[in-house]
Amino acid sequence: MFARAVGVIGTGYVGLTTGACLASLGHRVVCADIDENKINRLRQGDPVIREDGLAELVTEGIASGRLSFAVGAAAALAELAAEGTPAEVVFLCVPTPMGVGGVADLSAVEAVIEETRATLPTGCVVVNKSTVPVGTSVRTAELLDRADVGVVSNPEFLREGSAVHDFLHPDRIVVGSEQQDAAERVAALYARLGAPTVLTDAASAEMIKYAANCFLAMKLSYVNAIAELCERLDADVTDVTEGIGYDRRIGQSFLSPGPGWGGSCLPKDTHALLQVSDSVDFEFRLLRATIDTNIRQYQRMVDKIRLAVTGRRTGSLSRRRIALLGLTFKAGTDDLRNSPALDVAALLRQAGAELVAYDPAVDASDPRIDQNLVLVSDDPYVAAKNAEAVVVLTEWPEFRTLDWSRMAEQMDTPRVIDTRNLLDRDVLRRSAVEWVGLGRRAA
Ligand SMILES: NC(=O)c1ccc[n+]([C@@H]2O[C@H](COP(=O)([O-])OP(=O)(O)OC[C@H]3O[C@@H](n4cnc5c(N)ncnc54)[C@H](O)[C@@H]3O)[C@@H](O)[C@H]2O)c1
Repeated sequence: MFARAVGVIGTGYVGLTTGACLASLGHRVVCADIDENKINRLRQGDPVIREDGLAELVTEGIASGRLSFAVGAAAALAELAAEGTPAEVVFLCVPTPMGVGGVADLSAVEAVIEETRATLPTGCVVVNKSTVPVGTSVRTAELLDRADVGVVSNPEFLREGSAVHDFLHPDRIVVGSEQQDAAERVAALYARLGAPTVLTDAASAEMIKYAANCFLAMKLSYVNAIAELCERLDADVTDVTEGIGYDRRIGQSFLSPGPGWGGSCLPKDTHALLQVSDSVDFEFRLLRATIDTNIRQYQRMVDKIRLAVTGRRTGSLSRRRIALLGLTFKAGTDDLRNSPALDVAALLRQAGAELVAYDPAVDASDPRIDQNLVLVSDDPYVAAKNAEAVVVLTEWPEFRTLDWSRMAEQMDTPRVIDTRNLLDRDVLRRSAVEWVGLGRRAA
C-alpha cells in the first residue's frame, strides 16, 4: 500500500479517530486543532475523549513517528511540507453545530478553508468529513478558488462509544466528487479495510449522511411511539421489537425504546435536513413528526416519573428527591452534548424535583454539569440515598449489576423508572424494588 501524507483538521471524536486510525494503517498523519490545551495533551498521548482503543492508537502512532499534532490547520500543512512530503489529502473534521433556525453552522469549515487555501499544495485533495448539507462541496470549491486542489465529500458514520472499531470495520465507505481522480485517491486511503465503497457525486454523498441519520432518528421515534401504544394496549414492546426485528427488512438494531434520542449528531442533522427541505419547498412531514415525537418523549418520561412518584397524573414533584442513573447521551461515551438525560433532568427540575445523579463517565466535579440542575455523586448508592425514585436514563451495563438490595436500603421509596428497559426486573422484584419500564406488560 502507498502511504500518504495526510492532514486532519479537528481532533474531536471524528478527527482524532480518523487521524489515529489512518496512522495505524501506515499513513503519515498530522492532526490539528485550534484548542492548544487539547493538542498539548494529545502530544503526551492523552486522547482527551473516552473511546476504546483510541489511547493505544495515539500512543503507537506517536511512537512510530507516523502521528503528530499541530496547533492550527496551517501549522499541520507546514509540518508536512517541512518533511518534504506535502499534504496529499486534508480532512476537515470540525464541528457543524445547529445554527439559527436549525440550519447547519458551517463557520468552522469556512474558517479552515480560509486558513489553508493559500498554502494547500498543488494536487492536494480537501475532504469534507464533517456532516455538511448538500451543496457544501460546491461551496468549498468556490471558497478555495483553487483549480489545482480537489474537493471530495467523505462522510463519517462512526458511533461514539465504538469509534475506533467502527472506523476500522465500516459497513461502507462513501466517497463523492465530480473529480474522479480525487475521489479514487481518497477511497484508496481505506483500501486495506476491504469495505464496500460507494463512489458517487458530491451531492449524493452529502445526502447519504443525512438520509442515514434521519432514518435512524425516525426508527427510534417510531419505536418510542410503539412502546407508548403497547402501554395503552397491554402489549409488550420487548416482544414486539423482537418479533419485527427478525424481519431482515427491518433488523434488530435501533429498536430499543428510550427517553428520547439525542447526542451531538441526530438532533442537529434532523433539523438541518428539515431546513434544507424547506429551502427547496419540500414539506418533509415525516421528518418533522420524527422530531416532534422525540421532543414529546422527554415530557412523557417526566409524566411517567410523576405518576410513579406521586400516584397521580397531576401530582407535584416539588422537593421530591429523585436519583438519576446516567447522564451521557448513551453508554460507552463521556459525551453529554444534547443528552436526553439532561433534557429529562431539566424538565424534572422545572417541576421542582431535587436531583442527584450518578454516571460512570461523569465526575462529581465535572465542570460541564450545572450544579443548579443536578448534583453529581461518584457513588450510585450515595446518589440513591433518600430518593423517592431512581430513574435509569443511560443504558450503562453496570447498572444491571448494582446491588439492588443495597440500593433499596438507601432509598426512601424503593422504586425504579427504567427508561431504557435495562434492568432485570426479576432481580429488582427479589430486592423489593418496584420497577416501571417503557412499553412493558406487568410481569
Ligand atoms: N461525533 C460523532 O459521532 C460523529 C459521527 C459522524 C460524523 N460526525 C460529524 O463530524 C463532525 C465533527 O464532529 P465531532 O463529534 O468530531 O466534533 P468535536 O466537537 O468532538 O470535535 C471537533 C474539533 O474541531 C476543533 N475545531 C473547531 N474549529 C477548528 C478550526 N478552525 N481549526 C481546527 N480545529 C477546529 C474543535 O476544537 C474540536 O476539537 C461534525 O460535523 C459531526 O456532525 C460526528
